[in-house]
Amino acid sequence: MRPLFRTACRFVLGAVALAGTLQGAVAQESYPQRPVTWLVPFAVGGPTDAIARTVAQRVSAELSQPIIVDNPAGAGGTVGALRAARSKADGYTLFVGHIGTMAAAPYLFKGLKYDPMKDFVPIFRFPDTPMVLLVKNGARFKTVNDLLQEARKRPGELTFGTAGVGSSSHLAAEHLAATAKVKFTFVPYKGTGPAMTDLVGGQIDAMLDQTNVSLPQIQGGRLTALALTSQSPMPQFPGVPTLADTDLPGFLASTWYGLYAPAGTAPVVIETMRVAYMKALADNAFTDALRKQGIDVLPNDRVGPAPLREFTVSEQKKWERVIREANIAVQP
Ligand code: MLT
Repeated sequence: MRPLFRTACRFVLGAVALAGTLQGAVAQESYPQRPVTWLVPFAVGGPTDAIARTVAQRVSAELSQPIIVDNPAGAGGTVGALRAARSKADGYTLFVGHIGTMAAAPYLFKGLKYDPMKDFVPIFRFPDTPMVLLVKNGARFKTVNDLLQEARKRPGELTFGTAGVGSSSHLAAEHLAATAKVKFTFVPYKGTGPAMTDLVGGQIDAMLDQTNVSLPQIQGGRLTALALTSQSPMPQFPGVPTLADTDLPGFLASTWYGLYAPAGTAPVVIETMRVAYMKALADNAFTDALRKQGIDVLPNDRVGPAPLREFTVSEQKKWERVIREANIAVQP
């Protein structure tokens, strides 16, 4: 062997051995060794924040490490998604993505600066939440029909709060308007938490929000639920019909969420988080508490990284078609 070739071979073999050792070190190092941050891209007090904090608390107990929920909100969740995509792939910053940021955003925002598939790896899917059509308690709309009739009479005059362009509350409201052939004016907030405050205060006319945060407001007499977007009525919302059973046959909407890591994150991180979450799901007290809030706990075979990846891809295809057909285009 020529000396130069021999030196090159040694260098390559040395590099391969070093890479193997480093990977081994990550794999053997116990994870997590310090607090982990979950980035939630909507305001505190909204449905994404609420479900993320509930799950984080339980997963954190399994891991014996705190999980800090941070809320970089804005632009329908894309501000937080971009921050997550650019975070160090060391397992200490993870992202709570959802229907908007991971499926609809690439087709809504022409200049989107992250790619949900290339910049992230899936970890697990959270439970889903159906939505509720809400108005202020005592509002003049007593039924869905009242709201739609007024929207038909005064196109574009009724105001609908959303968590920003491309958020779940916005996508569902666009879907509602298109199905009912009415026009609303959408008012974007940094999350449905602040939108709900304005709905209670009478600054906006209506909104669609997830069941988990709407329920206490309805029970507390601040908001009235006109209809649910679920397939069937829910016992947690007595007397509330579904949109599918009333004025909009076949209308369904639900919000899904997933935990994602920046691309390049070590498999040990993904597996550790997944296992901790599966342990939480095995605890009936935990899942019963979620169900009481109107949250749909999914079967275990739909929760892990592979089903979440497959589901994210299928949702992207769906939203690409919906956005193209509805001709919606915006800039972040
Ligand atoms: C949405 O997409 O509408 C979000 O779930 C709102 C939020 O969490 O505030």
